[in-house]
Amino acid sequence: MKKQIKNNVFWVGKVDWELKKFHGNEYSTHKGSTYNSYLIQEEKTVLIDTVWSPFDEEFVENLAEVIDLDKIDYIVANHGEIDHSGALPALMKHIPDTPIYCTANAVKSLKGQFHQDWDFRVVKTGDTLDVGNGKELVFVEMMMLHWPDSMAAYLTEDNILFSNDAFGQHLATEKLYNDLVDQCDLFNEAIKYYANILAPFSPILRKKLDEILSLNLQIDLIATSHGVIWRDNPLQIVEKYSEWANDYQEDQITIVYDTMWNGTKMLAENIAEGIGLADPDVVVKVFNVAKSDENDVITEVFRSKTVLVGSPTMSNSILHSMAGFIHLMKELKFKNKKAAAFGCYGWSGESVKVMNDLMEDAGFELIDEGFKNQWNPDVDEQQAAIDFGKKIAGI
Ligand code: FEO
Repeated sequence: MKKQIKNNVFWVGKVDWELKKFHGNEYSTHKGSTYNSYLIQEEKTVLIDTVWSPFDEEFVENLAEVIDLDKIDYIVANHGEIDHSGALPALMKHIPDTPIYCTANAVKSLKGQFHQDWDFRVVKTGDTLDVGNGKELVFVEMMMLHWPDSMAAYLTEDNILFSNDAFGQHLATEKLYNDLVDQCDLFNEAIKYYANILAPFSPILRKKLDEILSLNLQIDLIATSHGVIWRDNPLQIVEKYSEWANDYQEDQITIVYDTMWNGTKMLAENIAEGIGLADPDVVVKVFNVAKSDENDVITEVFRSKTVLVGSPTMSNSILHSMAGFIHLMKELKFKNKKAAAFGCYGWSGESVKVMNDLMEDAGFELIDEGFKNQWNPDVDEQQAAIDFGKKIAGI
């Protein structure tokens, strides 16, 4: 099956309705995903990317139903990660001599994963590939967006940017285009993708977006490798990326905690109450990180101006759920966000100090020495936690 997306360009990918976890178990995909592969059938026939390995034989069989595989002149591998390159080994068994256009780094990643000496043709930004009928593919290296091997390809005349992971979303749908799906689902998945995958590379992305915009390309479609194709005002997602790449934040404070006997949970709720009392406009969200989807909580952190972290003291330190979550926030290199810590303790009470150090190390600006409470909070301490929340709201 192939679906026309414009003129002689077709979608030949795979919709994965069942996918719930991606990158092993690192990324939750509540709404499934798609692996978008595209076929250009001009005087030359070009396949852009493939699909994830579990669907390799299905992909090749489907492709063989819509085109004689021997008619494929070129393959473009925009990215070596196996959700896009995974069907290459199955495909190349049929057409082993077909040239594969990709970056120098993609040669490393494809050879490293598949151990095959295919006919790689290395391209750099500005290189072109003539596809006939007056059209050509122009390649744009997208180093670190999000792998060192990533690139995009632009089809002239049809004005399609095949952007690979950039601008994508994990969203399973039979609809091809952004204007045909639920807009809340679409933008929730797009910002989650940015927060959890692209955020560390925001400084690089800012430069790359400027570079792409300075080319003054007419872009009619942005054909991503996951989710829908942007056709209705396609630059809207580029503008969103510009916002997200510039130390993005909303008027939101997020409280993330874990608890043993509910003392730290009580503090979290008291602090949230205090913030709400002091600032009725600010959005306050509270998550027990041990009971929440970490990628969804990361998305809320990405939206926040301030993040409060809470843990009781355990073995002179903090609960491992919070330690792991702070590590995840550090990996994602969030910028321009404030932080403070809180927690209950029974004996030694190191948790707030430990979290203060970890949050500073993760790049957050500490705005308070934190709030500690010994044993379970009594009425006075609950009020003190409410007052702490009011103070945080005012900073
Ligand atoms: Fe969708 Fe980086 O692979």
